[in-house]
Amino acid sequence: MNILITGANGQLGTEMRNLSVEHPSHQYFFTDVAELDITSREAVRDFVQTHAIDLIVNCAAYTNVDRAEEDEPTALTINADAVRNLGQACPKIIHVSTDYVFSGDEHCPCRESDPVAPRTAYGRTKLAGEQALLEVCPEAIIFRTAWLYSPYGNNFVKTMLRLGREKECLSVVFDQIGTPTYAQDLARAIYAAIECDTWHAGIYHYTNEGVCSWFDFTVAILRAAGITTPVLPILSEAYAYKTPRPHYSVLDKSKVKATFGIAIPYWTDSLNRCLEQLL
Ligand SMILES: NC(=O)c1ccc[n+]([C@@H]2O[C@H](COP(=O)([O-])OP(=O)(O)OC[C@H]3O[C@@H](n4cnc5c(N)ncnc54)[C@H](OP(=O)(O)O)[C@@H]3O)[C@@H](O)[C@H]2O)c1
Repeated sequence: MNILITGANGQLGTEMRNLSVEHPSHQYFFTDVAELDITSREAVRDFVQTHAIDLIVNCAAYTNVDRAEEDEPTALTINADAVRNLGQACPKIIHVSTDYVFSGDEHCPCRESDPVAPRTAYGRTKLAGEQALLEVCPEAIIFRTAWLYSPYGNNFVKTMLRLGREKECLSVVFDQIGTPTYAQDLARAIYAAIECDTWHAGIYHYTNEGVCSWFDFTVAILRAAGITTPVLPILSEAYAYKTPRPHYSVLDKSKVKATFGIAIPYWTDSLNRCLEQLL
């Protein structure tokens, strides 16, 4: 197959590129905004036709949650209008969405069929992207993920390593609960969907296994890195967030495991694998 990977310089895109060597039977086209701006319908259509693309994996997105609050129209163009462009150009597409489509008020893991109610501009634009894609491309596969990190780009793990070295003490919220996701593991799940004998259209939840707060995540990061800076647990109300954050956004992964027959690594095991590469 000829596979187009958009947003290829981002965290997930880079992991898709790294793992492509394990799937050599395909021809890959890795593009980021400089090579293919997905907001241009004509550019997307021309690229797909010229390179006879059979499948798109969309790793491109407007991911800055705080900035999206100030400039929702731009976020909507990239997270929704551009996703429609991709779906119109190629009916076989794997797209990535977020736990932010949920309100964050839940108390048990969210299933794919649970009601959505985004509370942020980012969440609204990502939900609009899911809906726009399914409208033009009902056979699409959508992976919703959360708390993504990797050795690449900006993410929580890298920020905490830096702050842990710079500061005398860190204060981190312990009343926001979710699950970290190593982008490499998500990329493996995406390849499992690509290599599956049958195309299983639909929405899937994917994070690593387990549950933690941002405080627990930080403690695990610093311990694994041998950084002894103390970490204090604080409540969200003590932290000046620009954008409301979900209190509980654990995703139920039963469907993705049953459909693609994959085992999902526990979050601390994956964190340690990422840190081995980072440190
Ligand atoms: N990061 C998280 O914690 C998280 C959580 C849940 C879900 N997700 C979702 O997971 C997916 C992958 O996230 P990620 O963290 O890998 O994102 P990322 O690192 O921010 O990468 C996104 C890439 O898309 C590029 N891009 C932006 N606008 C584009 C355009 N118009 N045309 C082509 N490329 C464009 C970005 O370029 P620039 O850097 O130049 O803008 C960047 O290289 C996204 O769909 C995201 O919404 C992420």
